[in-house]
Amino acid sequence: MGKDVIVALDFDSREKTLAFLDRFAGEERKPFVKIGMELYYAEDPSIVREIKARGHKIFLDLKLHDIPNTVKKAMAVLSGLDVDMTNLHAAGTRAMMEAALEGLTRPDGTRPLLIAVTQLTSTSQERMEADLLIEKPLDQVVMHYAQCAAGAGLDGVVCSPLEAGKVHGTCGEKFLTVTPGVRFADGDVGDQVRVTTPAKAKEIGSDYIVVGRPITQAADPVAAYRRCVAEFVG
Ligand code: C5P
Repeated sequence: MGKDVIVALDFDSREKTLAFLDRFAGEERKPFVKIGMELYYAEDPSIVREIKARGHKIFLDLKLHDIPNTVKKAMAVLSGLDVDMTNLHAAGTRAMMEAALEGLTRPDGTRPLLIAVTQLTSTSQERMEADLLIEKPLDQVVMHYAQCAAGAGLDGVVCSPLEAGKVHGTCGEKFLTVTPGVRFADGDVGDQVRVTTPAKAKEIGSDYIVVGRPITQAADPVAAYRRCVAEFVG
């Protein structure tokens, strides 16, 4: 699986999303896209099928977290949507991750890639200790969750690009790192805190970068996407 740029379709309607994707109609490289909770809940599963039919690979970012049986059954439904990648929270335990993988696997043995969220990048050491009663260092918690996900048979984790190298060191080079928090060197940071450029994310070893506003809010989104690909994929 080669490196790729995943464009976060953080829009609240089908119209806005399709108008954005129309700009890429003439492009040779169809962007790999991420559909998150906002768009999925604003619309319905047909938005996934419609974008897939336009030829895009899809990362369905719904971050499942429930009892193992419920997650297994929900994953079976999601695998029917023919997405390329989906995810869950590693905090749901190893049993939940194993059940998810079982549910996601189609009768013919194929399945989308399954990625675990470790600790959200919005969670600080302080909040983790006070609210979750987890007192270990944050990076140790992230590595432990990544090891649990690898042990359960998952394909990788969502993490900060700054953690990608360490995750590979802990779980192997083939274990995927999907990393948001990417900004151009001359761009706005917005509400992201720990950011890197596409080139730096490549250097550290991210397998996929997830890029939202630097592309969706750019004056020329196609040019911004091309720049991301040029810096990250080469
Ligand atoms: O606009 P921006 O590039 O910050 O978008 C990043 C995308 O990645 C958003 O869809 C955001 O929800 C998602 N994400 C993130 N940090 C995480 C997990 C997901 O920014 N830890």
